[in-house]
Amino acid sequence: MDKYIINGGNKLYGSVGIQSAKNSVLPILAAAVLTDGKVKILNVPNISDVRNMVKILTCLGCRAVYEHNDLIIDSSNADCFEIPSVLAHELRSSVFLLGSVISRFRSAKIAYPGGCDIGLRPVDLHLTGLKRLGVEITEKNGYILCKSDRLRGNEIVLDCPSVGATENIMLAAVKAEGTTVITNAAREPEIEDLQNFLNSIGAKVSGAGSGTVKIKGVDKLGGCEYQPLPDRIEAGTFLIAAAMCGGEVLAEGVKPENISSLIHKLNENGCKIHIDNDKILLENHKRLASVKSIETQPYPGFPTDLQAQYTALCGICGGHSIITENLFETRFKYVPELRKMGADMTVIGRNAFVRGVERYKGATVMAHDLRGGAALVLAGLAADGRSEVLDISHIDRGYGSFEQKLAGLGADIVRVTV
Ligand code: UD1
Repeated sequence: MDKYIINGGNKLYGSVGIQSAKNSVLPILAAAVLTDGKVKILNVPNISDVRNMVKILTCLGCRAVYEHNDLIIDSSNADCFEIPSVLAHELRSSVFLLGSVISRFRSAKIAYPGGCDIGLRPVDLHLTGLKRLGVEITEKNGYILCKSDRLRGNEIVLDCPSVGATENIMLAAVKAEGTTVITNAAREPEIEDLQNFLNSIGAKVSGAGSGTVKIKGVDKLGGCEYQPLPDRIEAGTFLIAAAMCGGEVLAEGVKPENISSLIHKLNENGCKIHIDNDKILLENHKRLASVKSIETQPYPGFPTDLQAQYTALCGICGGHSIITENLFETRFKYVPELRKMGADMTVIGRNAFVRGVERYKGATVMAHDLRGGAALVLAGLAADGRSEVLDISHIDRGYGSFEQKLAGLGADIVRVTV
């Protein structure tokens, strides 16, 4: 298991290029199973979630070839509808494959998905939605078994706007007979990106980005070349790093409108932010002011995937903050680790009560999940002295070349294989 060694206290200066969005690329790769045409996904991030998804596709009989950072998937010879538990447990997004695999093979067998341990993360909405399209589902020995002779479009109302359920239903509906309408659909930008990808291979999807997504079933899909959205969570993580460490960082190749909730908060914290098309420049040279309270919400609200990094920032603001996590029950596992670095934070239920300290102190801490792990790295960068962040395999799930990018901005961070 690799770890990071960080000597904190350096200010960050320079520019950083933003990768394609993990949460776009994963469902797009799942969608590649739907077509016999070749799809080329550009600028695919070098992260373990993508590598695991590619392993699953290969196991289904798809051919995956990298051309530099681009990934070509050819599913014309896909011949397997079972995703073994060892692979499904590595990756929660394996559940997206239910929709595309059932569409392609009329059968699917998948072990219950894994992913970050950040709460219960049920898949009931995925399964209810698929049943509405005519899929028979049984659950046995840790596997979800799906069968359908004929997928038929239907109206589906989601109890809550689940990102994964919306995407899974879209994938199952693309080649179903008739029209599917998803009401109370998630509105995350990655849903619209999946729609754009599906339409570029010949699907008829509209409405993504609003709460109602409409899918008219088609018989055939083809190939395409596709550039996914930039990763708003990676971009947000670098902006928070710059705010915490001080300095001047330019995030390049971003869609600023997709992280306006964070930009708004960083402005309130006292950072200077300049936006120019696909670039965001953040400048900070002083102690940050606290924002009092913030809560995570589905898009366009403040993203749960930036909650940990932003709480780490609140920990060194002048004043108190209350952070409320509304989406996942156990997404404060990094807080006891931050306390080892001197943070004054208490978690009660879904709230973290934070009293800002002047500075963090270097310490040895353990990453328990992807974004919580990133938050610990940011705290280490802003801390006085040396920190070690252990078990960074969690961070590798979502951040490609994280330490190289941070070192490129002047951070003193190295990866050590233990
Ligand atoms: C996706 C993202 C993840 C992000 C999350 C919320 C990917 C690969 N992952 O995860 O990074 O943190 O959106 O923005 O895109 N729920 C149910 N039943 C279900 C499904 C979800 O109750 O069947 C609940 C969840 O417990 C949670 C809420 O809905 O409270 C949102 O979850 P969801 O939007 O589904 O998140 P994911 O798709 O797992």
